[in-house]
Amino acid sequence: MILAPSILAADFSKIEQELKELDEYKVKWVHLDVMDGKFVPNVTFDSKFVREIRPLTKMFFDVHLMIMNPLKEIKKYVDAGAELITIHHESADEAQVVIDLIKSYGIKTGISIKPNTEVNEIKHLLDKVDLVLIMSVEPGKGGQSFILKAIDKIKQLKGGNYLIEVDGGINEETAKLCLQAGADVLVAGTYVFKDKNNIKVLNNLDY
Ligand code: DX5
Ligand code: ZN
Repeated sequence: MILAPSILAADFSKIEQELKELDEYKVKWVHLDVMDGKFVPNVTFDSKFVREIRPLTKMFFDVHLMIMNPLKEIKKYVDAGAELITIHHESADEAQVVIDLIKSYGIKTGISIKPNTEVNEIKHLLDKVDLVLIMSVEPGKGGQSFILKAIDKIKQLKGGNYLIEVDGGINEETAKLCLQAGADVLVAGTYVFKDKNNIKVLNNLDY
């Protein structure tokens, strides 16, 4: 299992220290939630911030774009140091075109679906992506409760040639359910940043 802490729940006034602590816990991936105030009501950060924190850690940069019309933004995130860019199926631009563009830069690409979007809507994209991101909360903010419907989606997606990542409401209990169902990557914000020992709890889960 790959754990991808979401820095949305980190203390941004000491982001260097926060990233260092993740490194000390041997975390391999860090999840970066980009929100534009249009696709979701909140705004977080953009490619400038990604570029600024890039030199602070060697962790794999897992960029989750919760933005409308991502096509014109992709190159900025590639230049900023993203190693995987995940876009939303619901984000207006033709997903296939955006995915092809991301791949043309030689980095990994993912497709994400919101809780009310069914797996069969992205069937045509599954053989083109490195990762499928299942939202287990409505995108837009941290600290929400896990929506159980995500478990069925993991089961439906299991067995393909891509990683299955789950995002939202992950804690010890919901992580277990996801892993039992076949998830490969778990995003956790609130649970990890309220107590970094929870990184160990998630990494040591017996499921
Ligand atoms: C929600 C974000 C998530 C969020 C997860 O829109 O995509 O990555 O930060 O946070 P928790 O773990 O608090 O649900
Ligand atoms: Zn996310």
